[in-house]
Amino acid sequence: MNPHSEHPINIAIDGPAGAGKSTVARLVANALQYVYVDTGAMYRAVTAIALERGISPDDEEAIGRLAEELDIVLLPGDEGQRVLADGSDVTSKLRSLEVNRNVSRVAAYEAVRKKMADLQRRMALAKGVVMDGRDIGTNVLPDAELKIFLTATPRERALRRYREMGEQPGVTLEQLEREIAERDRMDRERELAPLLQAPDARFVDSTGRPIEQIVDEIVEWGRAASRTISAGEK
Ligand code: DC
Repeated sequence: MNPHSEHPINIAIDGPAGAGKSTVARLVANALQYVYVDTGAMYRAVTAIALERGISPDDEEAIGRLAEELDIVLLPGDEGQRVLADGSDVTSKLRSLEVNRNVSRVAAYEAVRKKMADLQRRMALAKGVVMDGRDIGTNVLPDAELKIFLTATPRERALRRYREMGEQPGVTLEQLEREIAERDRMDRERELAPLLQAPDARFVDSTGRPIEQIVDEIVEWGRAASRTISAGEK
C-alpha cells in the first residue's frame, strides 16, 4: 500500500519509562514513512545542558530561563534522532545516569514544559508525525488521530533499561527498578501535564509481547484511522 495515497495523521504514544515507546514509535514511523519525534530527548537535552553549565536542577528560575533561551533542534535520521542544543550535538549526553536522575525534576517546571510543548506542536503541524512522551495525547496533541498508552510491568521495564545501558559499574537491576519506580511516581504525581492515559487512547501492555507484534498492531490502527479520514473527505 502506498502510504502517500492516504491522509497523514499524527500518532501520540505515551507511557512510563522503559515501556518500549521509543523503539515502537521509531518502527511505526518507518513503516508509515512518518517522522519520529522523541520528546523525552528534549527534556533530557535541557537537563544535560543545565548540568554542563553548572545550573542546579533545583533552581526553577534558572532552568526556566535556560529552556526559554536554548535553541533545541531535532534531526531525524536513519540511525535515530539526533538532538542539537544551541547548535552542538548533545545526543551522546542524553542517557547518562546524571541526566536520568535529574530529568523528572527539570521536566516538571512550567516554563520548561511550555517551551517544549510549543516546539512539539510546531513539529506536528504538517501531520505525519509519531510522537512519544508522557503528555502527548493529553496535552501536546489532544487532537492526534491515534493515541496509544503503552506500558509494561516495572520489572520488565527495568530489565529493558538494564540491557539497553550495557554493563556499567555500580548499576544493578534492583537499583534501576527503584529509579524507574521513582521516576514514574514523579511523572504521575506532578501538577503540570502528569503522565496519564488519555480517555480516547488505546491501552497496550507490552509485557512479554514481541515488539513487532505491537508495531504491526499500531501500524494497522494508524492506516485505518488515516483511511477513515480520507473517506470522510471524499
Ligand atoms: O522518555 P524518557 O525517559 O526519555 O523521558 C525523560 C523524562 O522526561 C521523563 O522523566 C519524563 C519526562 N518527559 C515528560 O515529562 N514529558 C514528555 N512528553 C516526555 C518526557
